[in-house]
Amino acid sequence: MRRVAILISGGGSNMVALVKSMTGDHPARAVLVLSNDPGAAGLAKARDLGVATAAVDHRPFGADRAGFEAALLVPLLAAAPDILCLAGFMRMLTPDFVDRFRGRMLNIHPSLLPKYPGLHTHARALAAGDAEAGCTVHEVTAELDAGPILGQARVPVLPGDSEATLAARVLAQEHRLYPAVLRRVAAGDRRPVFL
Ligand code: GRF
Repeated sequence: MRRVAILISGGGSNMVALVKSMTGDHPARAVLVLSNDPGAAGLAKARDLGVATAAVDHRPFGADRAGFEAALLVPLLAAAPDILCLAGFMRMLTPDFVDRFRGRMLNIHPSLLPKYPGLHTHARALAAGDAEAGCTVHEVTAELDAGPILGQARVPVLPGDSEATLAARVLAQEHRLYPAVLRRVAAGDRRPVFL
């Protein structure tokens, strides 16, 4: 049984979808939900789902990313995860941290990478007049939002879409894509999933 740690910063809707997917004959189980914000709403949702939680507030560390990560590793390594899922985790990770989990740390990004790495992806797709948008699950590497693609889901951009309506349409696909990719990766299959 593969052990999965999920890192969040906010509401954790992707975390909820992932945790709920790991049942029955699924080859993985969630062993920890970890946040950089002790007030993250997702922590209560994880507890309601019966998953162990931990939080390391990044603010006291200021610009000391290595110090924050050293503190983050304490509960993380105690959970002995095989796979890490970043799910709405909004902190940049150092190359050292990424290297420690190379090949077994996933992230979901709300664009069709390689388009729109970084923030404000929906606003950028709308500004560009794109006919399609979507989300991508990729392996995390030292370069932001740039690792090997493990899955993508596409949605139409509709006339009159706002950032909010597009974000909601993409988020619904994130909740389908991420569990599908995790199940395949946990089973040792790296073929990308396209929804
Ligand atoms: C989502 O748009 C996701 O793509 C991004 O963070 C946002 C919030 O995710 N990574 P969640 O509801 O906290 O899972």
